[in-house]
Amino acid sequence: MDTTRYDYIIIGSGIAGLNTALLAAEHGSVLVVTKGRIDDCNSRYAQGGIAAAIGPGDSATLHERDTLDAGAGLCDPEAVGVLTGQGPDSIAGLIQWGVPFDTIHGQIALGREGAHSMPRILHAGGDATGMHIEDTLANRVRASEQITVLEYTHAIRVCAEEGAVSGVEVMGDGGEIATAHAHRHDSGRNGDRRVIPGSVVVVSTGGAGQLYRYTTNPEVATGDGVALAYLAGADVMDMEFYQFHPTALCLEDAPTFLLSEAMRGEGAILRNAGGEPFMSGYHPMADLAPRDVVSRAIAAEMERAGGRPAMLDISHLPPATVSSRFPTIYAECRRYGLDITREPIPVAPAAHYMMGGVRIDTWGRTNIAGLYACGEAACAAVHGANRLASNSLLDTLVFSRRLVEATLGNAPEYEAPDDEDGNLRVGLSNRAMVCATVPERGKENLQDLMWRNVGIARNGTRLLLSARILNLWQRTMPLPETAADFELRNMLVVARLIVEAALQRRESRGAHYREDFAETSEEWRRHIVLRG
Ligand code: SIN
Repeated sequence: MDTTRYDYIIIGSGIAGLNTALLAAEHGSVLVVTKGRIDDCNSRYAQGGIAAAIGPGDSATLHERDTLDAGAGLCDPEAVGVLTGQGPDSIAGLIQWGVPFDTIHGQIALGREGAHSMPRILHAGGDATGMHIEDTLANRVRASEQITVLEYTHAIRVCAEEGAVSGVEVMGDGGEIATAHAHRHDSGRNGDRRVIPGSVVVVSTGGAGQLYRYTTNPEVATGDGVALAYLAGADVMDMEFYQFHPTALCLEDAPTFLLSEAMRGEGAILRNAGGEPFMSGYHPMADLAPRDVVSRAIAAEMERAGGRPAMLDISHLPPATVSSRFPTIYAECRRYGLDITREPIPVAPAAHYMMGGVRIDTWGRTNIAGLYACGEAACAAVHGANRLASNSLLDTLVFSRRLVEATLGNAPEYEAPDDEDGNLRVGLSNRAMVCATVPERGKENLQDLMWRNVGIARNGTRLLLSARILNLWQRTMPLPETAADFELRNMLVVARLIVEAALQRRESRGAHYREDFAETSEEWRRHIVLRG
């Protein structure tokens, strides 16, 4: 059995993981563990783009202000300053690596999205930004002598003893290994388990949209990294804030495909089932209001229309503009018989982005020595209670770079978060029972429960009921054996973290809306930290 030790073990191969791998490879040996192909990730589906203050008249200060406003009082100002201040450098790095951002008259084209006061969204291939960045990074990873990639391999445990990380236990599910430089490990065979020792472990597994019945996220987005880190003893924060994207395709037999907010940035209008535009009745920024506002408005209009979806209408723009600016969306809708240059698109909200995650400082460090996190799986409170559109790709780049700097000793000493800082700390009861699962159709049951009870609008009764059901599932299920069992265990852990935090927060703020506590309360301007 191969017992190679790595300087860096990175779990997840989205933009956060691959950017970390490429930067870390300049300083040591790197292993990337990913449960699908190298490019099976959430980042790949990011359409709108990546926000950075690079345009005329724009500034890091304006970008910072918009981010803080969207975050509804829960952003960490230091983290936001880092994100917006270092954003343009990260973009320059991507351009140097060959990401083909769209241009107009020789200049980078900048789009507009909800709650941004300036046009500052860079995009590539029209609406295929995530794919272009992911492919650029993946090609560089494949070419690197220093990076080994284990595809089709599940991380099932972060190994930590006495507050320090020592490696990762993995389980193969029989797929191929990606790079020409990869070692062929025993773990490539189905069901084989082994511990890979490592000095630094990075959790970069992306989001958990698959917890919900309707999501813009792909199959792989099951929150694994958050569960693994939590079970290893890491603090997890802000889990009650799950962002629902307002506009996902809502057609029978079609996937819940993302319809980028950039469409509204280009002038698309939301209409209700009766054909009336409605957003100006909900917010002064109308169709470009913050996402939580738009999602709730659509949900309200749908309820009024007996469940019929809202319509996103871009048919008033010239057809060539629509099809060239949004080629992916245009083609996907055509597959389902919709010509978006001529007719409105039925849309409904869907789970999209996890603002919470493994608690990190602004250098990607967790409370466990050697364990780091970045991207959607991490939480530096940079997005607060509600992420500003297109800040997520920027977050992955800025904080993965800092994380690598921290591993090299180029960061101030780690300071454990102050226990007297006013945040609420909650421990889940019976954490030990979390190794459980697989009811018949367990995943679908979980997704339905989360969608119904822990979705866009929540209340104490349904949250409490959900907590009890999840608890029961965990207590009555056998220990996980297969990769699918471990994945479902992870989903249950993350679902419990979300439900527990949502139950505790007795107010409405950002993406967390409680019907029984509809107001925002100053008393709750604090984070909920769940301690593993
Ligand atoms: C979108 O294109 O609307 C999604 C981008 C994001 O979530 O920031």
